[in-house]
Amino acid sequence: MKNLIVYYSYEGNTEELVKGMKEVIDADVLRLVPKKEKISKGMFRFVWGGMQVYMTKTPELDSYSLDLSQYDNIIIGCPCWFGTYAPPINTFLKENKLSGKKVYLFVCNGGNLRNTWKNYEVALSGNTIVSKLDLVYPLKNGIDEAKITANKWIKECLSQ
Ligand SMILES: Cc1cc2nc3c(=O)[nH]c(=O)nc-3n(C[C@H](O)[C@H](O)[C@H](O)COP(=O)(O)O)c2cc1C
Repeated sequence: MKNLIVYYSYEGNTEELVKGMKEVIDADVLRLVPKKEKISKGMFRFVWGGMQVYMTKTPELDSYSLDLSQYDNIIIGCPCWFGTYAPPINTFLKENKLSGKKVYLFVCNGGNLRNTWKNYEVALSGNTIVSKLDLVYPLKNGIDEAKITANKWIKECLSQ
């Protein structure tokens, strides 16, 4: 049973959690990198992020090679953007038709997930969403504690 972690992180929260998980489970990791990412720490990131969610929807990603047939368990991590999973995940799910997989979802967010889980359920129909974890501002609220939570979650998920 092989495990794959697929993730996107803009501000580093999801990335930190993936680093932690890698220490406690055996998994390959695929980081999704948009070709045209506008990095900003100010308000502009919301303008740009909003355009990604509402207009671009499927931003082009740096190329990656992936043989999905090797993996039974797919762990997907990303930030919530404007009430849904961040657009690079959308691109990934459009480029890779997941079917019959066990999927584990974790979402970093600011406390308002809105349609995130519902949208994932639609996009991942034909797969089993085994478990979902949401973590509020891990870097701001205590990354050590968030890593403990995320590591415990994924270890328990995969041991079932
Ligand atoms: C463009 C943008 C839109 C966001 N929209 C939401 C949102 O709708 N709901 C929410 O709870 N948090 C929202 N956030 C906060 C992020 O989900 C949160 O900071 C997350 O921890 C970032 O993860 P990352 O560091 O892996 O990118 C938004 C952040 C950005 C940059």
